[in-house]
Amino acid sequence: MEDHLSEILPSYRGKRSKLIPILQEVQAKFGYLPEEVMRELATFIGIPECEAYSVATFYAQFRLMPLGKKRVAICRGTACHISGAPKILEATEKVLGIKDGETTADLEYTLETVACIGCCALAPCLRINEDVHGRLTPAKASELFPAPSTNKGEQDVQ
Ligand code: FES
Repeated sequence: MEDHLSEILPSYRGKRSKLIPILQEVQAKFGYLPEEVMRELATFIGIPECEAYSVATFYAQFRLMPLGKKRVAICRGTACHISGAPKILEATEKVLGIKDGETTADLEYTLETVACIGCCALAPCLRINEDVHGRLTPAKASELFPAPSTNKGEQDVQ
């Protein structure tokens, strides 16, 4: 990680006003803004760490968590919305155990909502990476994902 930062930071020495371009470069390099990198870059340009986080959390373009291997995009465009997208989102959030904008702890899935994905005739629909699934119901959407694991079996043994 330090190798990547040593490529980025020197050109910004003494340039406190360049926080946003630095964050953009860091995110382009790592895919998100890792905690240790945030600490290091704040120290380097001489600002409090909370100021770096304040900017990073203000802009939607920045991510503080890595993306999952599979990006799940629930369409919230008009056609999908009136066809039941809110229920599709609710079912997907439930089966994955995360909310819109979050990534599962195993880094398998990132859930997000997007505007029209161009398949309105299939509304309501969602996309998993490049694959579009349409004419969904909450039950069909849930079946696209593995059932959440539970520790019920272990609890029963005790
Ligand atoms: S509104 Fe959902 S695909 Fe167009």
